[in-house]
Amino acid sequence: MIPLRLLSRPVTAVSAAPRSLPRLVRFQSTSSSYDNIIVSSPRPGVGLITLNRPRALNALSSALFVELNDALKKYEEDNDIGAIVLTGNDKAFAAGADIKEMAPLTFSEAYVNNFIAPWSYLTSLRKPIISAVSGHALGGGCELAMMCDILYCTKTANFGQPEIKLGTIPGAGGSQRLTAAFGKSKAMEIILTGNNFSGEDAEKYGLAAKAFDGGHKEVLEGALDTAEKIASYSRVAVIAGKEVVNKSQDLGIREGVEYERRIFHSLFGSQDQKIGMKAFADKKKPEWTNS
Ligand code: CAA
Repeated sequence: MIPLRLLSRPVTAVSAAPRSLPRLVRFQSTSSSYDNIIVSSPRPGVGLITLNRPRALNALSSALFVELNDALKKYEEDNDIGAIVLTGNDKAFAAGADIKEMAPLTFSEAYVNNFIAPWSYLTSLRKPIISAVSGHALGGGCELAMMCDILYCTKTANFGQPEIKLGTIPGAGGSQRLTAAFGKSKAMEIILTGNNFSGEDAEKYGLAAKAFDGGHKEVLEGALDTAEKIASYSRVAVIAGKEVVNKSQDLGIREGVEYERRIFHSLFGSQDQKIGMKAFADKKKPEWTNS
């Protein structure tokens, strides 16, 4: 029986020391530690979350999601953090929802407790989040990577929605996000056959912003470089930029362009717009106030 209390239990961070901090740690700003994830801040303004259930190929258990959402909330509220990176390890970003935990779930338990719904917390963040994928990103792992704002992967990453082989279907947005990127025919083929696709294909079909040569180290460095760059800009403009791109998913072109223009107008009320444009004219580097 799935431990349903895990679906809604509040987080208490475990006080044990982190077991295997990434070698990149230079700017450690987070003191909490967890059982299923590792948090660190390896670059200025960047929060890094590493999924850490290597023996289960980072299978996404309810307990992992309680911790992940707690860490995301802390980064969202941390004024020192401007962008977040979510990653796994060389073997797996995540091999899907935890099948062993999920197997005995009844319809009533899944429905009443809105199983999987807490996964969507990530999509409510206003700060940008980049997934750095190497190894397996299957089922819920593929869906989690696709929920992020920018998806980076290795060319050899192994994506797929194999739920059909388990007698079920994607449950964390895979049918919607895959179809938005790949188009109906390709998404239908992937979901109904359970065939996997490579990181190289993810880039070719527009699911990934970039597929990197090499392994986990290379894709993580690429994601951290991009996150650091984003975090160096005005937080106000970055949040506005994310908001208007996301609106394009919901609105038609005409309403989307009007929406963008209104947000663009509103930025003339920010200090950072004045600072940024004056710095350009003065040939100086802008010093953002994030206001
Ligand atoms: N859930 C729970 N445990 C998992 C898991 C998962 N999704 N994926 C892997 N594991 C566990 C395995 O059971 C195994 O544990 P034990 O050592 O205790 O037996 C360990 O991780 C290592 O896995 P394998 O021995 O299977 O490793 P492999 O290299 O031979 O195969 C793999 C790798 C092809 C990814 C294979 O593990 C696999 O097929 N995993 C399941 C992938 C899958 O079906 N994902 C979709 C889940 S459903 C879902 O996500 C629903 C949704 O939309 C939200």
